[in-house]
Amino acid sequence: MCGIIGGTGLDEVLPVLVEGLRRLEYRGYDSAGVALADGGSIWRVRVANGTNSVAELAGVARPPSKGSRAGIAHTRWATHGRPSVENAHPHLDCTGRIALVHNGIVENHLSLAEALTDRGHVLQSATDTEVLVHLIEEEVARGLALVEAVRSVLATVRGSLAIAVISADDPETIVAARRATPLIVGLRDHAAFLASDIPALLGQTRQLYVLDDDEVAELRPGALRVLTLAGAEVEPRALEVAWSLESAQKGGFDDFMSKEIREQPDAVANTLLDRLGPDGSLAFDDAELSAEELRSVDKVCIIACGSSHHAAMVAKYAVEHWARLPVEVDIASEFRYRDPVLDARTLAVGVSQSGETLDTLVAMREARNSGARLIAVSNVVDSSMAREAQAALYTHAGPEVGVAATKTFLAQLVALELLALMLAEVRGTLSHAEVSGWLSKLHEVPGLVREAIRRSEDVDAVAKALADARDFFYLGRHVGFPVALEGALKLKELAYLRAEGYPAGELKHGPIALIEPGAVVVAVATRNRLWEKLCSNVQEVASRGATVVVIADDGDHETAALADHVLWVPHADPLISPLVDVVPLQLLAYRLARLHGHDPDRPRNLAKVVTVE
Ligand code: M6R
Repeated sequence: MCGIIGGTGLDEVLPVLVEGLRRLEYRGYDSAGVALADGGSIWRVRVANGTNSVAELAGVARPPSKGSRAGIAHTRWATHGRPSVENAHPHLDCTGRIALVHNGIVENHLSLAEALTDRGHVLQSATDTEVLVHLIEEEVARGLALVEAVRSVLATVRGSLAIAVISADDPETIVAARRATPLIVGLRDHAAFLASDIPALLGQTRQLYVLDDDEVAELRPGALRVLTLAGAEVEPRALEVAWSLESAQKGGFDDFMSKEIREQPDAVANTLLDRLGPDGSLAFDDAELSAEELRSVDKVCIIACGSSHHAAMVAKYAVEHWARLPVEVDIASEFRYRDPVLDARTLAVGVSQSGETLDTLVAMREARNSGARLIAVSNVVDSSMAREAQAALYTHAGPEVGVAATKTFLAQLVALELLALMLAEVRGTLSHAEVSGWLSKLHEVPGLVREAIRRSEDVDAVAKALADARDFFYLGRHVGFPVALEGALKLKELAYLRAEGYPAGELKHGPIALIEPGAVVVAVATRNRLWEKLCSNVQEVASRGATVVVIADDGDHETAALADHVLWVPHADPLISPLVDVVPLQLLAYRLARLHGHDPDRPRNLAKVVTVE
């Protein structure tokens, strides 16, 4: 996820673009850059300074002398190619006269890059994006106007994109296009704008329009023309904006957590995108690990903390079931100090949203020193963990600002399920057709998650009924157990309420002594192979006076009959169900935090990235 912005017809274009980038920083900040059409040439500045990239750009970019009135800018969340100045946008064509910014993923970039290189182009970056500007260069060289060149190139690329292009030969025109990635355009008197998101433009204009998929916009000072891919001119769709500038930075949501919960379908979809290698088999993002090495693995050891640890626990069920490999799941801070038995046939997997959690990072180093093969599952490209590992599997959830992991947790679940399928594929424990079948099921998840989120008002009503409760027990069995742990963690960290997660069968070995009237038991009761046994456990707590909430499959009235409150979820296959079942638990914790007057984005005593022991 990246942020793009552009403006034309402006006397002072640079400050407008830099201010817009500041408002888009939540979309990424690995690097930032700007390009202006400046008196017959392109002027460009790019920086890569981690979380400070936009601030550094603001500090170093001085307006060029020749009086440019149009430009484009970009703030990057790296997906292809590590965060660096060479990989920062805007990218230039071979002539240096066309500049382009891009948000999205060009899925067929490898074959396009190969063909471009064969035709004599020199690509300067490791990004998927750069092919676009060289393809446009070729079309312009054939005599097409910039807008026609962009239209023509769109027909040859696959994937998601929001792009903006300027040319030194037409210095007051910007051409923008969109496919499966948001892009808005705006007009004001003698100016025109584009951006990935509304907050970036609210300081400039409220006359906004949204581009639809495969529409191309030509922006000139005070003028906007929108074309379909086939070249037909269409009326742009006007956008009603009621937001204040402040709320808009959170996309109209009260807080980042609400926004990030709503972004979960996209986080899952983006993590699933572009996963098949040239031979049709599943592939890592960055890999120095061959299929042969993966095949030789005889044990998997997954290391993580917090929510990432819960995602790892779900992965154990998937890897054992699909790939028939033994799996150990470790809390990183414990793993470091025991004496784990690892060797070259062990696959160690570090899971971390940030890719920087110190305990996990050091545990991964220990694993590598013991000879294990090492994979990182991280939401940050080129994070310390990704660099430590031989292969990276990135979760493409986009930047997560709220301290509580939500969309990154779902993205980890889906990435780890992909890893399980990858292992099953190389080991031959699942046929190619079976792997494809599971991939199809995973592709249904964004829709199921969207439906679960749509029911947030039902969760609010249950939260209201539980507003006075102080003791919560979360129960689950099989994959429902890690989901219960995650639900309890969310409630603890956001609402500061005592919440324990248990495998329901363990209750009778002690914790049931704590159950009395006033206690709340939240049971993850969607149907997996232990559902009947879980229902018996629920009856045991209900008969001791607990208030019972169940997460139940749509239409499962048998389960609902056991409970005081039901949170319905759309049915998913048991191995996939954690992705759906956790959503009402996130919403419940969020709503209880709000009812208790706590800021869900900044829970007390916590930090988003934990780089201390
Ligand atoms: O960046 P990581 O995934 O390594 O972070 C691990 C934990 O610190 C993190 O999941 C933490 O538990 C969250 N606050 C949970 O919401």
